[in-house]
Amino acid sequence: MTPEVAAAAPTLIDVLRLSTTYLGDHGSTSARLDSELLCAHALGLRRIDLYLQFDRPLDEAELTSIRELIRRRGKGEPVAYITGTREFYGRSFHVTPDVLVPRPDTETLVQHAVGFLRDRPGAELRVADLGTGSGCIAVTLAAEVTAVRAVGTDVSAAALDVARANADSLGADVSFVECSWADCLEGGFDLIVSNPPYVTTAEFEAVDRDVRDFEPPGALLGGDDGLDAYRALLASVRDHANAARVMLEVDPRHADAVAGLVSATFRGATTVAVLDLTGRTRVLDVAMA
Ligand SMILES: C[S@@+](CC[C@H](N)C(=O)[O-])C[C@H]1O[C@@H](n2cnc3c(N)ncnc32)[C@H](O)[C@@H]1O
Repeated sequence: MTPEVAAAAPTLIDVLRLSTTYLGDHGSTSARLDSELLCAHALGLRRIDLYLQFDRPLDEAELTSIRELIRRRGKGEPVAYITGTREFYGRSFHVTPDVLVPRPDTETLVQHAVGFLRDRPGAELRVADLGTGSGCIAVTLAAEVTAVRAVGTDVSAAALDVARANADSLGADVSFVECSWADCLEGGFDLIVSNPPYVTTAEFEAVDRDVRDFEPPGALLGGDDGLDAYRALLASVRDHANAARVMLEVDPRHADAVAGLVSATFRGATTVAVLDLTGRTRVLDVAMA
């Protein structure tokens, strides 16, 4: 008679290795990181705590929930939509498929805007964030600079619900309005910021399936030349808002074209290029004449 040997339960490190291989085979370019974030989420742990529990055996319920999350990621769903959160500028933002997942690129805009606002005296600094999405820019500026009173606009009511939830959970003084760009704004602003959609129609066909199949097209598409949103938002700012300064995130390849639109819209404005860590223009900082 052969003695029955109970199969040892897989440990956390076993599962991380298998998940990493599976996700790498299914198109993820950050398979180990994705596996860690999803295992941590399924187990209710912080990612750093995984490293202290590598030898922990996982029970069937834990394995089932990890398998489900890894399967979703294997089909291309972004980790942020699966876990419902994304880190941005040191804070955790709630995200849903109704909003663009906040990108590290946008931290260049935020860092530059924070520097500008901190140098500016005033009991109250009025800031508007056009196309606010998850609210990551407006909420971060209000959280970083106490004098900031921010308003975020978006045409997506569902995105504004997410932005409001983020302002509430992060204790930021931001109001949100459903409207196109600056059309609903009144009065003067110390700063207007925006990260508008700027993917060209041709580029959209070639972007990763994680982006194309899951993120809201209205947050990505900028028309044939990627500049449609800049044209509309600059005209809207010119016609409806009075801003001392405007800071726009740009695709580095569009920086000159956007700078041209700025000078055609605002005569006498001075535009400075702000570089990201790789030395490419990521933000245009426009001082009005
Ligand atoms: C690239 S996403 C940026 C989201 C967020 N600010 C960020 O940086 O992660 C662009 C946002 O602009 C919004 N949007 C598109 N057209 C708009 C319009 N006409 N007026 C206001 N917002 C618009 C989209 O709904 C989306 O939330």
